[in-house]
Amino acid sequence: MKPEVLVFAASPSRSVMEQLDRHFHCHHVYQQPAAGQDAYIDRVAPNVRGIMTIGPIGVSAALAARLPRLEIVALNSVGYDKIDFEALRPRGVLVTNTPDVLTDDVADLTVLLVLASARRLPAMDRFVRNGDWAARKPLVPARSVRGKVAGIFGFGRIGQAIGARLAALGMEIRYHQPRAIPGVAVPRADSLLDLARQSDYLILAAPANPATLRAVDAAVMDALGPEGTLVNIARGSLVDEEALVGALQTGRLGAAALDVFDQEPQVPDALRSLENVVLTPHIGSLTAETRHAMGQLTVDNLLAHFEGRPLPTPVSY
Ligand code: 8YV
Repeated sequence: MKPEVLVFAASPSRSVMEQLDRHFHCHHVYQQPAAGQDAYIDRVAPNVRGIMTIGPIGVSAALAARLPRLEIVALNSVGYDKIDFEALRPRGVLVTNTPDVLTDDVADLTVLLVLASARRLPAMDRFVRNGDWAARKPLVPARSVRGKVAGIFGFGRIGQAIGARLAALGMEIRYHQPRAIPGVAVPRADSLLDLARQSDYLILAAPANPATLRAVDAAVMDALGPEGTLVNIARGSLVDEEALVGALQTGRLGAAALDVFDQEPQVPDALRSLENVVLTPHIGSLTAETRHAMGQLTVDNLLAHFEGRPLPTPVSY
C-alpha cells in the first residue's frame, strides 16, 4: 500500500512528478478548483500520512488538525515560515526542507537585481524599445557598484554566497544578524539600523520569523537614504511594504529591487508604477536545474521517511 501524500504544488520537474506518483498515492490538491480543494482534502484526509508543499503555502494548525495520520511535511522550499510548528510538535510530525541546492541561483538573482537597479536595466530596455534612443533622447549616467557598500541582513548560506559574488564585483561587504559568525572576515554591524546607515545596498537574506517581521521599517529605510537601494530576495514579510512605497515615492529611499512581496502574487499598484523599482515574481530558485534538485530532495526526504531511513535534510524545531 503506497503512503498517501497531499501535494499542494507541482514541481516543474517531470521526473520529480513521475517519482512522486510512482512511490506514493498522491492527492494533487493544486489540480482541484480553489473552491473544491477543502472538500477534496476532507475526502482523503483520514489516510494522508505525508504532505508535500512549498514555503509560501506552508501548513496551518487547521490543516494539520484535519490529518490524523500525518507523519511528515516535506517542503519543496528552503523557507519554512508558514509552517505552524506549535501544532506539529506535540504530534512529532517531521519537517524537511531543501537547503543548499538553491543557494547559488538565489545568490545569482540577487546580483542580477543589484546590477539591474544600479544600471536601470528595465528603463534602458524600454528606452531602446520605445524608440527614445533613435529619437536621440538624452541618457543619464547610471551608478557603478564598484566601491559601494553591500549590507547583507542574514549571513547564512545564501547571504554569504551573495557576499562572495558582490565582493567579486568590487563591492565592500558588511552584514548583520543576531549571532556573529566566527571566522568570517566580513565586518558585522551591531544592528539592522546600523547596517542600513553603512550601506549603499541593503540586501535582505534573513529568514522570515517573528523577529524579522517588518524589521525593515521607515527608520531603516531613512537610514539607507536617498542614495540607498533596498534589495529583497527573502520574504515580503521582512519589509513594511506601505512604508516602502512612501519612502520610494518621496525620495527618502533611492530605489528598490524586489523578488518577494507581502501578499504574493498581488503587488501594490503604487510599487508597480514606480520608475525606481525593479520587480521580479519570486524567481530566486526558478531555474530548471535548481527546481529539479529541490524537488528531488523533497522526494528523497519522503522516501527516506517511509522506508525508515535517516532524513537527508530535516528541519530541527
Ligand atoms: C520558491 C522559496 O520559489 O525556497 C524558498 O523558500 O521561496 C523559493 O525557493 C518557493 O518556495 C516556491 O516554490
